[in-house]
Amino acid sequence: MSAIRLSGPPVRDALIPVLGVIDGIREETPDVRTFRVTALGGGVCFVHEPGQCAMLSIPGVGEAMFSISSSPTNSEFMEFSVKRCGRLTEWLHQVEPGQEVTVRGPYGNHFPVDTELRGKNLLFIAGGIGLAPLRSVINYVRHNRSRYGAVDIVYGARGAADLVFFNEIKTEWEDRDGVSVHLTIDREEESWSGHVGFVPDFVRELDFPPDLTALLCGPPVMIKFTLAGLLEMKFPKTRIYTTLELRMKCGIGKCGRCNIGSKYVCRDGPVFRRDQMDELPNEY
Ligand SMILES: Cc1cc2nc3c(=O)[nH]c(=O)nc-3n(C[C@H](O)[C@H](O)[C@H](O)COP(=O)(O)OP(=O)(O)OC[C@H]3O[C@@H](n4cnc5c(N)ncnc54)[C@H](O)[C@@H]3O)c2cc1C
Ligand code: FES
Repeated sequence: MSAIRLSGPPVRDALIPVLGVIDGIREETPDVRTFRVTALGGGVCFVHEPGQCAMLSIPGVGEAMFSISSSPTNSEFMEFSVKRCGRLTEWLHQVEPGQEVTVRGPYGNHFPVDTELRGKNLLFIAGGIGLAPLRSVINYVRHNRSRYGAVDIVYGARGAADLVFFNEIKTEWEDRDGVSVHLTIDREEESWSGHVGFVPDFVRELDFPPDLTALLCGPPVMIKFTLAGLLEMKFPKTRIYTTLELRMKCGIGKCGRCNIGSKYVCRDGPVFRRDQMDELPNEY
């Protein structure tokens, strides 16, 4: 039998997993680690937009959807910030640098950084691991700083030890280049001198003017109360963007796992503008 010959460069298909290697692991919190992944030949596995996701797999163990937490302006590697909660994530939290993985994507839509967000004053609001997709946007905005107005980041977690990217926030984001960071934790802690309270209440206390453009990501309860608060503060629905997170399997609008009415979160989201959410049944 003659050997099969392939000619021309390989076709890039978001359904075909790319082989990658974990070449760096950073402990963010007791249950979140950031994994730095490069393609086997070096560089990123594929190009993405801020807010997009990918299916990360350890062959033989499992596959799950994760936000790409690094900025597309980084062409050397991709990062995924993963909370330990089940089979695949338990495994990931035990691997060492050098572990091979597969990555397929990028999936979903993205925050409109080069259109609707250009020239705007931006208000990022995140809770817990929800800062992962927003980190991609924040670092994209910081990289292209002159294209955007002032940047405010409101970020909260259960306790100080649960704030992800804490070192990066303190050494690279806070009070630099027109970026203001407002941190909060849910309950008092002896070593914490910052704000204490839930994110939606903190956003109200900070009393931002409604001419900012808000970008949200976090647990459903945080999203629900923050959205309600922003509307009371007179933010127009057309200037509030949020991500929705539903269980996913295929990532490409085929399996029906993630639909809300006629929309598939994996394909039509995960980023939705608040006015677009009015067209969805209240199932999220
Ligand atoms: C668009 C999108 C982006 C995501 N980004 C990230 C990210 O950046 N970092 C991160 O750590 N996780 C992220 N997730 C969640 C991640 O995909 C799940 O936690 C994943 O199922 C973990 O796989 P596992 O095999 O370890 O856990 P599993 O064994 O699949 O499940 C563990 C537990 O988590 C629950 N669960 C699984 N998926 C979800 C979900 N989507 N919503 C609520 N509960 C769920 C299960 O019911 C179970 O209780 C994202 C999910 C989506 C849909
Ligand atoms: S994950 Fe299969 S349709 Fe969205």
